[in-house]
Amino acid sequence: MPSIVTLISGRGSNFEAIVKTAQNEGWPVNFAGVIANHSAAKGLDFARSQGIPAFAIEHREHATRESFDAALMQKIDELGADLVVLAGFMRILTPGFIRHFEGRLINIHPALLPAFPGLHTHERALEAGVVEHGASVHFVTEGVDEGPIICQASVPVLPGDDADSLAARVLAAEHQIYPRAVKWFLDGRLRIVGNQVQVQPPESQLIKL
Ligand code: GAR
Repeated sequence: MPSIVTLISGRGSNFEAIVKTAQNEGWPVNFAGVIANHSAAKGLDFARSQGIPAFAIEHREHATRESFDAALMQKIDELGADLVVLAGFMRILTPGFIRHFEGRLINIHPALLPAFPGLHTHERALEAGVVEHGASVHFVTEGVDEGPIICQASVPVLPGDDADSLAARVLAAEHQIYPRAVKWFLDGRLRIVGNQVQVQPPESQLIKL
């Protein structure tokens, strides 16, 4: 049975959506562990409530990114991950870490990449006046928020939206696409061709909500 290790920094609602979908649909998968970069991350409580091993590796206790990433890599390898899922993990990862997990490291980003990489995506979408916003699940490569896109969900930007209302609409969309992308990966349906991801057999890689 394939094993997933999830990295979080906070609330962990995407992780929760993946676990609940796996439970509801009876996926043959082992949630081998959840690791947060600080012990106050709320998502660790959900993991424990499900009997999923939960760990904190405090990034503040490491003098360098390299040292933190080495500790993280060692723990993930100990847990035995076929897939590493970044679910609201708010640390930039070093090239060595990314290379080590290349092809089995995925992330969700709250924007329709390549638009709005980085932080504060909802504020920036509102400032830019876009009429459509959303979320993307992608393989992680060394460029931040640049890897091959597995699937995206788009939501409308509505009159009167503020960053919170838009974030809530996008988050609901994230909870739909992240479990779907993880399942595609587990089922061996993803092929990376250049900077594109093909799903085989084909299925829409865009959800419009
Ligand atoms: C999500 O909106 C996710 O897309 C975002 O953090 C939130 C985590 O929520 N990730 C990033 O911004 C990554 N750069 P969650 O902890 O409830 O899943």
